[in-house]
Amino acid sequence: MNHFILIASLLLLFLLNNFIVEARQIAKSTTTGTRWVVLVAGSNYYENYRHQADVCHAYQILKNGGLKDENIIVFMYDDIAFNVQNPRPGIIINKPYGPDVYNGVPKDYTGENCTANNFLAVILGNRTALTGGSGKVVNSGPNDYIFIYYADHGSAGMVAMPTGDDLYAKDLIEVLKKKHEAKSYKSMVFYLEACESGSMFDGLLTEDMNIYAVTASTPAESSYAMYCPGHYPSPEDDFETCLGDLFSISWIEDRCGCLHFFYAAVRTVRTYGEICGSLSVYGKKYTRAMANMCNAGINEKQMTLASNQACLK
Ligand SMILES: *[C@@H]1O[C@H](CO)[C@@H](O)[C@H](O)[C@H]1NC(C)=O
Ligand SMILES: *[C@@H]1O[C@H](CO)[C@@H](O)[C@H](O)[C@H]1NC(C)=O
Repeated sequence: MNHFILIASLLLLFLLNNFIVEARQIAKSTTTGTRWVVLVAGSNYYENYRHQADVCHAYQILKNGGLKDENIIVFMYDDIAFNVQNPRPGIIINKPYGPDVYNGVPKDYTGENCTANNFLAVILGNRTALTGGSGKVVNSGPNDYIFIYYADHGSAGMVAMPTGDDLYAKDLIEVLKKKHEAKSYKSMVFYLEACESGSMFDGLLTEDMNIYAVTASTPAESSYAMYCPGHYPSPEDDFETCLGDLFSISWIEDRCGCLHFFYAAVRTVRTYGEICGSLSVYGKKYTRAMANMCNAGINEKQMTLASNQACLK
């Protein structure tokens, strides 16, 4: 591997890992407000196994971090665990040979109830606007924290939902503005994994909304699956689907325990590529290299050094 690619990959890896732990911080912070979480897998069908796997895994991390089910609201189609193609019936894993992440996940909005309309109603805390589902909503107040994590396919100005209409940027932003005007949160963190996911926020969020959005890609980039058959690391042989997504895995696994000092400096929207250049420049090929370096234990200090030299100047 030449030096340019090595440094570029290190930088990307470093950035990835700056995004890791906000959810954990929300779970652990010692503030007076309540922590609310909305988790959304916007796809269905076995070939999209990874999105529901990411969301189930995120649930387990947050639950272990001390959040209560009454404050975690899950949207997933729920057609994976018992899918005829699933080689581990009743189980969902999010990494090769990984543990079950499906057990205990609340089925708040599944199947026909997993809609964009319900998602928006849940954020607003408006029960009368719901159609079906558990009725759980983000019933938050001015001191509360909200974390929203969404994994799916997307394109310019939209991300998909498994039932009914897709979720459009203008509708999402309108709802976030209403939530802000209603003074029903202190701050909000929104992680979005989808292709062209930057387009859901870019130029639309304003600083005063106190929403920190991190997207897997810029408005014009792809996001990438991970743990796919034929890649390294690959799932067990009998899986014919990817188990996770690169951006999601980076924050959920918290595998490098790296620094996140960029977090303090950012206010509204950040994407991987924003600080040091776009992910698409390096291509999919190098995302593999990043994963490998992460597994090989490239440490915080090395990444900080590389970043300081090449990125912050
Ligand atoms: C809640 O949703 C209903 C139905 O869409 C709507 O009529 C009502 O105005 C909403 N309430 C608030 C407080 O936004
Ligand atoms: C949708 O919500 C309704 C009302 O809560 C419930 O009876 C139904 O079982 C839900 N459908 C699915 C697929 O979960």
